[in-house]
Amino acid sequence: MAKVRCKLVSWNEVVRWCMDLADRILESGWRPDVIVAIARGAYVPARLLCDLLQVTDLASVQVAHWGRAAEITTKAHIKCPVKVDLSGRKVLIVDDIADTGESIIIAKKHIEQDCNPAEVKVATMQWISPVCKIKPDYYVEEVKEWIWYQYPWTRLEDTIDFIEKILKEEGKEKKEWTRREIISKFKEWYGIDVGKQYYDRAIAYLIKQGTLEEQVKGCKRTLIYKG
Ligand code: ADE
Repeated sequence: MAKVRCKLVSWNEVVRWCMDLADRILESGWRPDVIVAIARGAYVPARLLCDLLQVTDLASVQVAHWGRAAEITTKAHIKCPVKVDLSGRKVLIVDDIADTGESIIIAKKHIEQDCNPAEVKVATMQWISPVCKIKPDYYVEEVKEWIWYQYPWTRLEDTIDFIEKILKEEGKEKKEWTRREIISKFKEWYGIDVGKQYYDRAIAYLIKQGTLEEQVKGCKRTLIYKG
């Protein structure tokens, strides 16, 4: 059984969702003068929306909230504020997903209080309606059951974190792993397959970081969990 429900998102899906999002914005008759991406998750969707809506001004605000994959590590706070003058301008705040809504609420409040915009609206690809404290003005998918969207821009980061979680939890009983065992446990826990290139890179990173140590016994290679 998967430990965290995940959906593996492809680049094509991202493009499709952003096209749908752009169409919804265009159909509403509202056009932003500037897009503000919530870093880091919104960079790709925000850049696509700039293209699809023909908006040239793109700014960003970084909100710290989500840490390791699928875990909230800090109280949402502004890490890098918007440093541009948005006086009298119509602003579209973009995020990849509206989950708890904390990042969006804090980013919106900061822009409204500190940047003097004419109007602020919010667009996301996904909206997790049962847990989210704000409803985006524009969204593509309403998600009724919480799930972790494994977006392509966090593929390695999530793979590293997810493997670390497996090693940590199983590490009390099991210290020695083959690559095949790690990959199979990953698929079992998360219900997705990120592909060999990502497993290889994640394992290489964990070896470099000292979490795993490669051991060669004759022709058998294993990985020892050092945590
Ligand atoms: N960031 C915050 N919540 C998320 C989720 N449910 N899936 C992917 N990225 C997220």
